[in-house]
Amino acid sequence: MESIVNCKIHISKSIEQLSEYFAQLLVDKVNNSKDHFDIALSGGSTPKNIFEYLAVHHQYSIRWHKINFFWGDERCVSPTDSESNYKMAYDSLLSRLQIPSTNIFRIKGENNPKLETDSYSSVVLNHVNCVNDYPKFDLIMLGIGEDGHTASIFPNQISLLNADKIYSTAVHPGSGQTRITITGRVINNASNVVFIAAGKNKSKVVGEILNQKGNYKDYPASFINPEEGKLYWLLDEDSASQISRSNDKIQM
Ligand code: 6PG
Repeated sequence: MESIVNCKIHISKSIEQLSEYFAQLLVDKVNNSKDHFDIALSGGSTPKNIFEYLAVHHQYSIRWHKINFFWGDERCVSPTDSESNYKMAYDSLLSRLQIPSTNIFRIKGENNPKLETDSYSSVVLNHVNCVNDYPKFDLIMLGIGEDGHTASIFPNQISLLNADKIYSTAVHPGSGQTRITITGRVINNASNVVFIAAGKNKSKVVGEILNQKGNYKDYPASFINPEEGKLYWLLDEDSASQISRSNDKIQM
């Protein structure tokens, strides 16, 4: 596995500091971007804190009208279901910033998963510029599970990292829940990939990946390494507690 290049590890003292760092990334990258900015949002509980922080503290500092919102993955549930990644982002951020519906491209979790996977792939291909035959998002936001999954690419479906398709169906190995997920080649084609992980329960998997030790080769998140893009790991002190302090990518 080639070493991770162009990686910046930022360790914050709190989720608020981590959220502010993420906000400053958006200020810098969105406001200085050409015409529009294509973001794929992450699901899960960690981003919810960040979205709420952005809605309160960065209504005016980020040129939100330039952003087209996509998702890296979605649970195959209705958009009103508490499990929906769209619902989480809409309630905590998009509705509070009055983002126009024309800038929101949700994965329709209520539809037939295989049909929606193809349909959403077409939506992305029609709206996101392609480079090297794959859509090139300006920024992809990712979380990480304790098992090393990211988006909905789970260890037992690690082949989705190299799938030819840009989105695929997946199944959560624990709950059996059907998901629709972005695939690895699209993630690694992005201009910026931003992992966000907070809390003690992420320290082992984050430490193994960033130190390239233990079972890191079993973790899909280990293989996220945008060839022509920048990789950020935004952590708090708890999730970063097992990273070797000699890691030269750490920027405090
Ligand atoms: C999802 C996400 C998933 C998530 C991780 C971390 O739909 O749940 O895509 O990859 O980011 O499971 O989730 P937490 O932030 O809740 O720990």
